Amino acid sequence: MSRSPLTVRASIVTLTMNPALDVTADAEEVHHTSKIRCGDERYDAGGGGVNVARFVHALGGSVAAVFSAGGLTGSRLIDLVDEAGVPNIPVPVAGSTRESFTVNERSTGKQYRFVLPGPRLTAEEQRRCLDVLRATAATAQYIVASGSLPPGVAPDFYARVADVCAESGCRLILDTSGGGLSHVTSGVYLLKPSVRELRECMDRALSTEGDQVAAARELVQRGLAHAVVVSLGPDGALLVTDDDSHRFSALPVQVVSGVGAGDAMVAGITVALSRGWSLTEAVRYGIAASAAKLLTPGTSCFTAADVDRLFGRVAGPASVVRATALAD
Ligand SMILES: Nc1ncnc2c1ncn2[C@@H]1O[C@H](COP(=O)(O)OP(=O)(O)OP(=O)(O)O)[C@@H](O)[C@H]1O
Ligand SMILES: [Mg+2]
Repeated sequence: MSRSPLTVRASIVTLTMNPALDVTADAEEVHHTSKIRCGDERYDAGGGGVNVARFVHALGGSVAAVFSAGGLTGSRLIDLVDEAGVPNIPVPVAGSTRESFTVNERSTGKQYRFVLPGPRLTAEEQRRCLDVLRATAATAQYIVASGSLPPGVAPDFYARVADVCAESGCRLILDTSGGGLSHVTSGVYLLKPSVRELRECMDRALSTEGDQVAAARELVQRGLAHAVVVSLGPDGALLVTDDDSHRFSALPVQVVSGVGAGDAMVAGITVALSRGWSLTEAVRYGIAASAAKLLTPGTSCFTAADVDRLFGRVAGPASVVRATALAD
């Protein structure tokens, strides 16, 4: 598997500053104090951008994954990304890549997800991540930066990523939350917050569709992003640009696993955009990809045929409250 940014030529590059080795297991019942015997364990490569890369690859997109990796967990993560057939460029770090632990409780069908903060990255390690990104961006069309920032990384790190994209003429698709999101001020082509993340970013309740559209449009008008896709879980998604807003319904699916729906949506949108599709068609494809993921157990991957089949069932967009009315 190729490791050098000089030999990797992909039209979509994902960046994951805080990837994870995802460990998933089943238990009859989750309770405190006494040991919980787990079984059926599986290990997957995880972290926002790594998931997006796996899903883009499954959809037949040309992709490379750039991510930090350290320690034995980092080595295992690299092996898993290799096994998935995704070209990757790990950036070595001194700390150990984190593990994320998910337990599926058989008696209730509930899922318990334990997430660690990740290793502290030095300034030099962060600089190397940006250098590798810059080298791969030279031949890329889209950079997808996704996931949380690990300890030691300044909250405005994604603003540096936006600068790299601007220098290289790549479009940046950003899916993050908290400080990583609130410190970006410009340079994003498409931002994909969930409504929960948008609510936190704007510090407003956003209880109506009109409020959600107005908040997304505010980010567009501030110059942060060209387009904002607000994902609404089972309620679908909103696509907001400067002069347009559309609402998309989700596909009614029997959810097998909720893990990775947002990452699948980002992958679907990015693959569709890289094929030259319009934003509205890209969001429809993203909805199909997220539904395919919801129908797939654990963190495992769907097939392109699954997504294409579901795509035919995703309804076209409906217009929502007009921009002018919202601005009043
Ligand atoms: N229960 C569901 N039924 C049908 N589709 C769903 C369901 N949950 C999520 N989706 C689809 O997946 C997309 C992304 O889901 P969601 O809005 O939960 O984003 P997320 O990024 O996974 O959330 P977060 O990052 O806040 O955990 C939705 O826009 C929708 O198309
Ligand atoms: Mg998400």
